[in-house]
Amino acid sequence: MNMSASKTLNWYAKALRPASVTIKPKPLGMKLGESTPTYWFDDNPFLTHFLTAFSAIFPQGERYMIDSVRMFRDEVKDHKALYKDCSGFIGQEAHHSNEHAIINDFMVARGVPVDKLEAIVDWWVPVFKRFPKKDQMAITGAAEHLTALFGDLVLNNPELIDQVDESMRPIWIWHAIEEIEHKAVTYDLFEAVDGSYPRRLYGYALALALVVVFSVYGTGLFIIDDRKNMGIKKTAQGLWWMFGFGEKSGYLRKAAPELLEYLKPGFHPWKDDNSHLIDKWRPELDRMLNDIKQKNSEKAGK
Ligand SMILES: [Fe+2]
Ligand SMILES: [Fe+2]
Repeated sequence: MNMSASKTLNWYAKALRPASVTIKPKPLGMKLGESTPTYWFDDNPFLTHFLTAFSAIFPQGERYMIDSVRMFRDEVKDHKALYKDCSGFIGQEAHHSNEHAIINDFMVARGVPVDKLEAIVDWWVPVFKRFPKKDQMAITGAAEHLTALFGDLVLNNPELIDQVDESMRPIWIWHAIEEIEHKAVTYDLFEAVDGSYPRRLYGYALALALVVVFSVYGTGLFIIDDRKNMGIKKTAQGLWWMFGFGEKSGYLRKAAPELLEYLKPGFHPWKDDNSHLIDKWRPELDRMLNDIKQKNSEKAGK
């Protein structure tokens, strides 16, 4: 391990992650049923297709990230905190991957061709698996910046959660919380085993391009397939939601400055301490899950 790696690891252990934040895998056990609407986001086909495409990348994407961490985890075995967090990361991502696969299957059953997007991603994953291992780790570290931004966006804007159908709210909150909890693990692992700035940028360019290309491709695919139901008003509302200039719109446009943060040479995910979002939403999620459990047992008792 070189000097800069051990310096990074010392920061990791002592200062950067707030002590209240832990990385513990916890399954969600989401169930989607007949009452879940096909257009599960704000009854809006355009935005539902966009978010379905984004969500559809998770199962394979997160398995790829797990494999990257497995490739390098043993190299930080002597640094117990980071080694343990790598295990926590693997457990959390494995659960995320499984739960998002449920959304994929649900949407396929509703006639949305998510399987076609999955097939494309399946084709590309082995290509990226042939990249040098450190490049794969750089892609993984960078992809986690994107998922951390997703977590921050969701939990900082409760109106977005309200727009999700009740049956799907827990998965988005749960995933967002855990993405914030483990947001620095792959970054620190990359810094520990390589830490090259040019490779960090190269990994980021690739990760960003992949997420954008797959999301846009999937959205287009689903929209074309569902063109009969794509109303102009809902599509315009969706575009305003993404790029508009109102207080409760322009969510993708507003995320742009955060995207650039990763390019700063002195970047570290925990320099932005957003752990208050975990403290706020964990109890909220527990309440939500308890309500669902209670409703289900009432239904079963009838
Ligand atoms: Fe995840
Ligand atoms: Fe993650």
